[in-house]
Amino acid sequence: MKIAIASDHGAYALKQQIVNYLSENKEIEVLDLGTNDEKTSVDYPDFAKKAALAIQNKIVDCAIIMCGTGIGISIAANKFKGIRAALCHDAYTAQMAKQHNNANILAFGGRTTGIEIAKQMIDIWLNTKYEAGRHQLRLDKMIDNV
Ligand code: RB5
Repeated sequence: MKIAIASDHGAYALKQQIVNYLSENKEIEVLDLGTNDEKTSVDYPDFAKKAALAIQNKIVDCAIIMCGTGIGISIAANKFKGIRAALCHDAYTAQMAKQHNNANILAFGGRTTGIEIAKQMIDIWLNTKYEAGRHQLRLDKMIDNV
């Protein structure tokens, strides 16, 4: 499985910890899309776009994105066709993000989420199966909204 990871400066430190964590797993290939330091202020929509395009272009299977709160970067990612970015705060929301929403991007905040909760969310999101069925009918209704 190939996973893109991207953040703005507000989550750079957490992103680095997560890159290290995922790199320990031999079944996961990590594509780090930046940012590359926490001192330079950058714009989270640029990093949401990098992650969204990596999914749209099938360079990766899914992505993890972060900004200070996870709010801005998840809103930005959800502007891209086919992207379902879920802002999660705990294991339950991460589980539901896959089980019911088939989220292809997991989002959270570098200033709101600690590394241990982040690891729990990543593990459960990656290992939960999408239930489809009635949930697919709902996802289908989100396509081509005007
Ligand atoms: C950057 O300071 C901050 O606004 C950003 O990381 C994010 O929290 C926005 O939603």
